[in-house]
Amino acid sequence: MGSFSTLFPQILFVIVVLSSCSANIHGQFITSKASRPKSLVLPLTKDPSTGQHITEIRQRTPLVPLKLTVDLGGRSLWVDCDRNYVSSTYRPARCRSALCNLANSRSCGDCFDGPKPGCNNDTCSLLPDNSVTKTSTSGELATDVVAVESTDGKNPGDTVTAPRLVFTCGSTFLLEGLANGVSGMAGLGRDPVGLPSQFASAFSFSRRFALCLGSSSKGVLFIGEGPYIFQPTGVDVSQNLHYTPLFINPVSTASSSFEGEKSVEYFVGVTAIKVSREAVPINPALLQIDSQGNGGTKISTVDGYTVMETSIYRAFTNAFTKAMAVYPGAPRLASVAPFEFCFDSTNLPVTRVGPPIPGVDIVFQDETVSWTLFGANLMVEVKKNVICLGVLDGGLNPRTSIVIGAHQFEDNLLEFDIARSRLGFSETLIYRQTTCSNFNFTSTASTTLQVV
Ligand SMILES: *[C@@H]1O[C@H](CO)[C@@H](O)[C@H](O)[C@H]1NC(C)=O
Ligand SMILES: *[C@@H]1O[C@H](CO)[C@@H](O)[C@H](O)[C@H]1NC(C)=O
Repeated sequence: MGSFSTLFPQILFVIVVLSSCSANIHGQFITSKASRPKSLVLPLTKDPSTGQHITEIRQRTPLVPLKLTVDLGGRSLWVDCDRNYVSSTYRPARCRSALCNLANSRSCGDCFDGPKPGCNNDTCSLLPDNSVTKTSTSGELATDVVAVESTDGKNPGDTVTAPRLVFTCGSTFLLEGLANGVSGMAGLGRDPVGLPSQFASAFSFSRRFALCLGSSSKGVLFIGEGPYIFQPTGVDVSQNLHYTPLFINPVSTASSSFEGEKSVEYFVGVTAIKVSREAVPINPALLQIDSQGNGGTKISTVDGYTVMETSIYRAFTNAFTKAMAVYPGAPRLASVAPFEFCFDSTNLPVTRVGPPIPGVDIVFQDETVSWTLFGANLMVEVKKNVICLGVLDGGLNPRTSIVIGAHQFEDNLLEFDIARSRLGFSETLIYRQTTCSNFNFTSTASTTLQVV
């Protein structure tokens, strides 16, 4: 009986929202194609001072544009509800409701400063996580309207709205360490309340998204099916991807979690790292995820550079500096924090894919699948004629042995297919005569949707 009484008002709410939406659709000639998009497109920009990749969505009624730091391994969308949260469509998740269940919330309670967004009685909560500073808190679970652009893979099209997108209320203090102007984090994690799964169920498309981080400025995030078309050639990058399985770490890797939760981050099965086609010596146990959830390799957008456990870092950088001394023969220079290995690039030729460096391959499970990193993704130009190896020492016994950071996959497209549990990667788009900044963001929308 209890579950009936909590579910019933929600069902009513859905009907009310849907009918007000269809009124809009008729009033403004939005095609049925637009209301059932196959794919969504979100803009990305790289924040110059923090290096964080920022996206933008519109939320609430009336709609407010929000800048959010992209967190590939984040469990859900979270936003600061303490300041400026005004919306007529904010709905907290009532204890023991279907939403609390969907989000696997294990905590429930009252809040005495309310009622207001983020503070209501008889609501369940999650643990919004600032994964940059590794800080988390408890925050009310809620739903509100979210508007994003649909796409045919080539341009943004009509705006579509998810009337009841689940998110978590964070607090103002949780924004510390995030880029200026950001009001939360866009969690793309492998969780029913992660943004990709929620958009997939809101619009009935497959649980899949593709991330293409720009190296200097703009990038693009597709949620849903391909194609992923880039200018100037109109190449469809969803074709000819290399695939490797995604793995689930059985123990949460978040800053805080409920007991027994698995990780929602994206782990891949790296088996070797090669420098000049030769595997560097790595203790294979470190590449496995153990029963406590330690070890393995994950991909992260909140780490600017790849971080390796000390013994892996030593073996890799040894092999790399030896190879650098032979070819291209660039002399070592003093370290430039946070990087240890820097080189004089005065005499190195300039190529499309960055400085010529020893070939580095990340080898996956199946020996035939590997990811070649070129100079632009491996080296960082810290000043004129000084390039440093963009890899950091993660110390002894880190939680995850290898964290592949953002610099290493900028201008590469990564497709995370949650339904098929596999990662597709393009390698550098420069070899396909384009970059992640070349999605055509000129809208072809036939109309603008106003949500009332
Ligand atoms: C929340 O519940 C407490 C008692 O548990 C009550 O004092 C308070 O008035 C309630 N607040 C609201 C907004 O209903
Ligand atoms: C971008 O898309 C618009 C709308 O379809 C089109 O008019 C324009 O030519 C495109 N630009 C490029 C560089 O392809």
